[in-house]
Amino acid sequence: MKVPILAPSLLAANFAHLAEAVAQIEASGVEWTHLDVMDGVFVPELTFGAKMVADLRPLSRTIFDVHLMVSSPEKLIERFARAGADYITFHHEAAVHVHRILASIKDLGKKAGISIVPSTPVSLIEDILPFVDLVLIMTVNPGYGGQSLIPQCLEKVKTLYRLREEKGYSYLISVDGGVNPDTVSQVRDAGVDVLVAGEAFFKESDKASIAAILKGTISS
Ligand code: DX5
Ligand code: ZN
Repeated sequence: MKVPILAPSLLAANFAHLAEAVAQIEASGVEWTHLDVMDGVFVPELTFGAKMVADLRPLSRTIFDVHLMVSSPEKLIERFARAGADYITFHHEAAVHVHRILASIKDLGKKAGISIVPSTPVSLIEDILPFVDLVLIMTVNPGYGGQSLIPQCLEKVKTLYRLREEKGYSYLISVDGGVNPDTVSQVRDAGVDVLVAGEAFFKESDKASIAAILKGTISS
C-alpha cells in the first residue's frame, strides 16, 4: 500500500505562534499543511480568513490544503485562491451549485475538493466525483479538533476507493478528524491518500517521529 500524504492541521497549533507552527510542519518533512477555515455559522467556531493564508504562504513550501467550513463557500473561493491555497475544499452540505463552485476553483488554477460530514452519504456526491480533485471525508463532526474518530465513516473511504477503481476517477481521498497513532492503521487500511491530523501532530514534541508513525513508515 502507498504511503499516505500527511497534512498536519494548524487548528491544533497555538494561534499566537502560527508562523512557528508552519515552520515545524515543513521541518518535519511532510508535504502538506491543512488550514481549517471556520465561519461561526456552518460550524460554531471562528478561525481565520484569507489574509492569514496569504501571510503564511511565503513561510512554507508545503501544499496549502484549505478546508472551508463555511456557509456560502462560493463567496470566498476567489479570496482563498488569491491568498495562495493549492487545494480548496468546501462542504457539500453548505452549497447548492456544487458543480459550478468546483469549476470556479479550477478556473482559478486550483485543485477542487468536496467534503462531507459524518451524516452525509457518498451517494449524494457520486454525480460530481468526475469533477473533483479531492474528497475529504470528515470522521468527526466538523468544528473542533481533538474529537474521537467515528469508525463507521471509514466505510465511505472504501466506497470512494472502489468507485475510483471502477470508473477511472482521479481524486485523492482524505480523512479528517480523530486521526492519531491508535486509529491511523484502520484509516490507512481503508485506502486513504491524505491523512489530516491536528492534535496528534501538535501535542508531540518530536514532529518528524509522529509524522513517520502516522504515515506508517515507522511503528509506534
Ligand atoms: C475539524 C477540522 C480538522 C481538525 C482535526 O473540524 O476540520 O481539520 O483540525 O483535528 P484532530 O486531528 O485533532 O481531530
Ligand atoms: Zn479540516
